[in-house]
Amino acid sequence: MRVGTLGIVKSAARDQAPDQSAAAFAHPSEAQFSRLLDFYDVEWRYEPRSFPLREEEGRVVEAFTPDFYLPAFDLYVELTTLRQSLVTYKNRKLRRLRERYPDINIKLLYRRDYLRLLERFGIDPRHSSVLPPVEKVLVSEADLRRRVAELGAEITRDYAGSRPVLVGVLRGVTCFMADLIRAIDLPVTLDYLALSAYDGESGRLRFTKDLDEDITGQRVIVVEDIVDTGISLHRLLQYLQERHPADIAVCALLDKSARRLTNVELAYVGFEIADEFVVGYGLDYHQEYRNLPYVGIVRSS
Ligand code: IMP
Ligand code: MG
Repeated sequence: MRVGTLGIVKSAARDQAPDQSAAAFAHPSEAQFSRLLDFYDVEWRYEPRSFPLREEEGRVVEAFTPDFYLPAFDLYVELTTLRQSLVTYKNRKLRRLRERYPDINIKLLYRRDYLRLLERFGIDPRHSSVLPPVEKVLVSEADLRRRVAELGAEITRDYAGSRPVLVGVLRGVTCFMADLIRAIDLPVTLDYLALSAYDGESGRLRFTKDLDEDITGQRVIVVEDIVDTGISLHRLLQYLQERHPADIAVCALLDKSARRLTNVELAYVGFEIADEFVVGYGLDYHQEYRNLPYVGIVRSS
């Protein structure tokens, strides 16, 4: 068992012997996933627990050992980079696990999800330098306009009599923020935060731009383009809480809830979307496509 991020032991070991750091993992994708979690400063444990699934004559004959446990989210994560036939077998085991241990929170990340996650963080495992085409419009300009107006009206009603501070997360929030503030009929102030991007190797999630204003005692609305795993939002909310605002709510244009790994409450959601990679209306693929007036799906090969 290895203990991640906050454990000094592991960081020191990694600094001294970077080439051997992956040796304890059964699969390179697990090592890569651990680096991603390190970047986010999410504490992890590798295979910390086996769950007996079946006993015969008092002996365990089948067990399930999830790859990772993330204490902060009380979540087990199983990475499956296997072929479909083996995935079916694994799914059966997972079902049995859920039946026997209904209180255990476990997520399966399929190979496809996992590659998309890496790609999203700028790591393209297929080393493709060709910009994929936008396959289709997911949310049209007209639908965006209508929904953003509704969100603005809801916020106006819910925050009547107060002066909320809208905190946008750069850079994807650009279009949404610009339209949302004009749909809110209240005195509002604006501020922005920016987070560093994962580069596949070094570093930790950092704020590359801090708040400019003091939010102590203020009513804060975090404005996000899209919430996917929710890990960056989780971190961001912790960071804002430490500044003692009166309260915090989150307004996200897009909610990819199928991929959520954290428990973050979204007070306002523009659209729930399926697990697709989307671009436009501020959202990018390797910094491109932000200026599309609609939200579109990028074709994944
Ligand atoms: P999370 O920490 O996994 O929730 O990641 C959230 C951030 O990843 C968003 O604020 C976006 O910047 C980016 N992101 C997630 N999904 C997409 C997508 O489909 N298209 C473009 N950016 C995305
Ligand atoms: Mg973002």
